[in-house]
Amino acid sequence: MTNKTYTEVIDEIRNRLDILDVVQSRVVLKKRGTNYWGCCPFHNEKTPSFCVSPQKGIFKCFGCGEGGDAISFLMKINNQSFNDVIKDLAQQFGIELPSFNSDSKKYGDEKQKIKDILEKACKYYHNNLLTLDEAKPALEYLQKRGITKEIIDEYQLGYSKKGYTELISHFKSDYTPDIIEKAGLTVKTEKSENIDRFRHRIMIPIRDESSNVIAFGARAIEANQNPKYLNSPDTVLYNKSRILYGIDTAKKQIMADDYVVIMEGYFDVISSQAAGLKNAVASCGTALTVDHIKLIAKYSKNRRIYLAFDTDSAGLKATQRSSDVIKEAFRGLGNIKIFDQTYSSLNDDKYTCEIRVIAPFDSKDPDEYIREYGIEQYKNYIKKAPLLLDFELNQALKDYNSDFSPTDKLKLVKKIMPLIEEIPNNIVQNEYIKLVSDKINIDESALIREVNRSKMFQTIESKPIERIVTKSSNNSEKAQKNLLSLFFTSGTDIDLNNLIEVIKNVKFTNKNLIIIKEAIDKLLYRVNNNVDELIQSLYTQFAEDNELKDIITDLIYIADSFKNLSERDFKAAIRDNVNSIQKYHFNCEKDEIAAKYKQLNDDDIESMQYQMQLREKIKNKHKVGE
Ligand code: UTP
Ligand code: MN
Repeated sequence: MTNKTYTEVIDEIRNRLDILDVVQSRVVLKKRGTNYWGCCPFHNEKTPSFCVSPQKGIFKCFGCGEGGDAISFLMKINNQSFNDVIKDLAQQFGIELPSFNSDSKKYGDEKQKIKDILEKACKYYHNNLLTLDEAKPALEYLQKRGITKEIIDEYQLGYSKKGYTELISHFKSDYTPDIIEKAGLTVKTEKSENIDRFRHRIMIPIRDESSNVIAFGARAIEANQNPKYLNSPDTVLYNKSRILYGIDTAKKQIMADDYVVIMEGYFDVISSQAAGLKNAVASCGTALTVDHIKLIAKYSKNRRIYLAFDTDSAGLKATQRSSDVIKEAFRGLGNIKIFDQTYSSLNDDKYTCEIRVIAPFDSKDPDEYIREYGIEQYKNYIKKAPLLLDFELNQALKDYNSDFSPTDKLKLVKKIMPLIEEIPNNIVQNEYIKLVSDKINIDESALIREVNRSKMFQTIESKPIERIVTKSSNNSEKAQKNLLSLFFTSGTDIDLNNLIEVIKNVKFTNKNLIIIKEAIDKLLYRVNNNVDELIQSLYTQFAEDNELKDIITDLIYIADSFKNLSERDFKAAIRDNVNSIQKYHFNCEKDEIAAKYKQLNDDDIESMQYQMQLREKIKNKHKVGE
């Protein structure tokens, strides 16, 4: 057991966490200045108002107000408690936690057990494949597919036995039926009995980014065995709409080459990676999701995505659907490169993402293609892979022949129009119109008219928001916020302890700001005048309080406007804001007095006194804060 304190461990985790890394697995971000912007994952939006500041280590949504540090982000996005997030991160970083009793321990233990059993199941299946007589057909099948012993070992392919309770009996003495079920390895029969989920199948372990086994894909061996692929259900470790098969072995190469190839099947990925095309991944039996794209956007800096789906009609639909998903993932973040820009002056690095399609002529899937023609030829295809729009246009135009009637042509034009309309640049658009009208032998100006007509009906998409101002409260509260944000200001030599002495006696009215002010006062003695430490301690202290965390994040952002002030200007900022607060209190009192005065008659002695008080107040007003 570690002899570190819980707080020390939290500090260590905080230091290892990178906010960009954490957020980017769930939000597609684009750099603008020193900050990164994206669409907020906590509310529905189409233009990005979600901002990550790697320097400050925080995120903030200017649309919905959510904000915090990396740990708060994980809490919010995974709907976990602070302790559970810490527990997961400690595990991820291999940091030992001091023991403490809580529900999260039980939960964490369960997750760990599921992880253990999946790892063991992987070895068990693998061993089955290599040693059992029963597994011979599986082995032969794999050999026939060109899967060598080396590949079997590298990808830990396995075999699940035919019997109904083979795995259950194997793990009976070490794990409860409950854990085995939660790991997704068993199913319940109608009679509520547990049986093995995977039987007589080739087992393909699915791993997360850190190479932990989190699920299995299982291929049928016999022709009449249905379904062809059976997959693990979602579990506490596995969410199929978020994980891509092969990501653990692909991520390094995706970073190095700055592109990823998305394929359809497990064996496409295995064959490609084994042949040396490492940056291949596939979804595990689901359609591509925005979360999948977020996962790979993290690794490819320029987000160069190659789609390598089948070229049959189902595959073409998948290509289209997937590119829509990619566009959705990058919506509002800038142009997506989907057409040839040789005609235009558009600068390459303005693109937020690039989509290309790999479609070999004889509609073989990557696995078949590589086996038949070799990896070098496949890589040649990648080199020449057309951009999405060029590919789609070619596909549409392929159907054309010179026997087309006017109606046929009109149908074809209808199919092509949306593609042409996607081109944002007029010159390039006209080039494409020329190309198309030539090819299908129609009048160019008629096609231009069609495009223009439909443009009129399109709504103009709004530009990404560069700067959004936080919701304003009254002036006094604003001043209270300003004063507190001074504690988070970098680039000044102000002693935080002096600052608190000045601000301590200023009367705050907002209940949350009062809490934060008091917390700062108490924390200052242990953070040694260090802004970053102060921020970390505050986030830890208010880890479970969303409202306060949002306000703290707000304050850190406001602090930017006081950055690098000279001592004189900094003091002026303190004075101005203290004045605003005093003025507010003064006005409140004045209103109070005036209200009382109204109820009285002029000749009342009391009224005379109030008038004097009022005059006195007004006179003092100009002295405040000096
Ligand atoms: P396909 O059936 O299209 O072809 O499955 P494949 O990958 O080429 O299969 P092989 O080469 O015959 O082995 C594509 C992917 O769709 C999912 C799997 O992830 C598979 O890899 N799938 C397919 C299922 O989840 N269930 C199925 O029944 C079939
Ligand atoms: Mn295949």
